[in-house]
Amino acid sequence: MLNEEMMEVIEKERAYVATATPDGVPNVVPIGFIKPLDNKTVLIADSYMVKSRANLEKNPKVSFVVQDVARHPYQFKGTVEIFKDGEHFDAVVEWVKEVNPLAPKPKAAIVITITEIYSVKVGDKGKKIA
Ligand SMILES: Cc1cc2nc3c(=O)[nH]c(=O)nc-3n(C[C@H](O)[C@H](O)[C@H](O)COP(=O)(O)O)c2cc1C
Repeated sequence: MLNEEMMEVIEKERAYVATATPDGVPNVVPIGFIKPLDNKTVLIADSYMVKSRANLEKNPKVSFVVQDVARHPYQFKGTVEIFKDGEHFDAVVEWVKEVNPLAPKPKAAIVITITEIYSVKVGDKGKKIA
């Protein structure tokens, strides 16, 4: 699903993550703590989400692009699971602490299973990549 370039850029860059209410009101937020776990799953630290989290509790679908979308023109889509304890939760707590010991403890780990990847390159007509 995710190739090496995609995994590298998701690890390095901020992403813009869109969610939606069950009746389709969109919400997009910047997310810094986002990284791939493997070529099918991506981890987000939920430290500050409010509307995004409420949306995901009811409608577990996300779409995101990375900051430098001109160089990495991919639109990722997936389905999330929210973990408030356990292995994924412990991993985000450790990760955030390592990067910034003063940052608040995350409220949850959000694990995205990537289901589809599209090109957003100009002229590609949004073609499906995977
Ligand atoms: C540069 C930047 C990076 C951010 N990174 C994260 C993050 O890693 N995790 C998080 O929960 N919120 C992060 N936020 C906060 C969210 O973008 C947003 O403010 C929060 O989800 C509340 O918005 P919402 O109610 O629409 O969810 C970040 C904000 C900025 C400006």
